[in-house]
Amino acid sequence: MKMKIGFIGLGIMGSRMAANLQKHGYSLVVFNRTRAKAQPLLEQGASFAESPAKLAEQVDVLFTMLAHPDAVEQAALGRNRFLSHLKSNALWVDCSSVNPSFSKKMAAEAAQREVHFIDAPVTGSAPVAAEAKLVFWVGGDAIDVEMIRPLLLCMGNKIIHAGGHGMGASMKIVINLLLGNAMAAFAEGMALGEGLGISRKMLFDSLLGTPAVAPFVATKRQKIESGNYEAEFPLRWMQKDMHLASVSAYESGVAMPLTNVTKEIYRLAMRDGHDTKDFSAVYEFATGNTGKERGA
Ligand SMILES: NC(=O)c1ccc[n+]([C@@H]2O[C@H](COP(=O)([O-])OP(=O)(O)OC[C@H]3O[C@@H](n4cnc5c(N)ncnc54)[C@H](OP(=O)(O)O)[C@@H]3O)[C@@H](O)[C@H]2O)c1
Repeated sequence: MKMKIGFIGLGIMGSRMAANLQKHGYSLVVFNRTRAKAQPLLEQGASFAESPAKLAEQVDVLFTMLAHPDAVEQAALGRNRFLSHLKSNALWVDCSSVNPSFSKKMAAEAAQREVHFIDAPVTGSAPVAAEAKLVFWVGGDAIDVEMIRPLLLCMGNKIIHAGGHGMGASMKIVINLLLGNAMAAFAEGMALGEGLGISRKMLFDSLLGTPAVAPFVATKRQKIESGNYEAEFPLRWMQKDMHLASVSAYESGVAMPLTNVTKEIYRLAMRDGHDTKDFSAVYEFATGNTGKERGA
């Protein structure tokens, strides 16, 4: 009999990841603050738990895919939360993007309750999650990682075991720091190029594919040209990740002047109403351009 799996957090990413576990025949118990988002999974046979605690009692492995550390902590700790209701020796796999010191704290909380913990954040946004091609950055004990490897392979195609607790989160925060800075740098370059009278088309055609631009930026061209920034990765979560990078730098005595400035650029973009748009909307913030070309 296949193990019973719990999934908490059915947003852009979690809904797609849980659906892929379901496609492989796993029986799911799910919970989401906004229940309506669970509906497609319930129609495919999942059951909905009324609280994280009720969910925890039923499962052998629990995945969380929540927005930020506070959301994870609220779901995990406290009287009616899941950590004290998981079975002894159950496995909790946190896929949320959080800071490494938070992952270590959750690992310690879990250990006190004889629950095994793995941090397993992912790279790849909504379409990649739907295609089960995520990369998992994993921190935890090797024996636990091997146990959940088949589950991760239902949702992704690459698993990097980076080390002990917190090392998956460490890799993830470095990657998002690079993505966030690269997107903001591209937006600023475009602002200057367009300001100098170069057409947006000319800039895209000439710059994409060169070493000057991070390859992922090509996937954002259509959003920028259409002005339709439906979120694959919400801008407010990129700002959160830049903040978590900044917190991690503070904790480890590292200076990060560039990332701290970029973090504030995303915050200003949020203030201008771009918070729930895709993070590539930092282009709109930097240039003031919506879908139409400047002057068109
Ligand atoms: N989207 C991407 O491309 C991408 C890629 C890699 C990693 N990530 C990371 O994956 C995580 C989820 O991102 P997402 O894109 O799926 O975001 P999302 O669509 O905004 O989903 C966020 C999830 O967290 C829940 N949540 C938020 N605040 C909460 C709170 N205070 N208490 C309880 N639940 C709360 C939401 O519940 P409701 O449905 O009730 O709001 C939802 O289930 C984040 O850590 C993000 O940084 C995202």
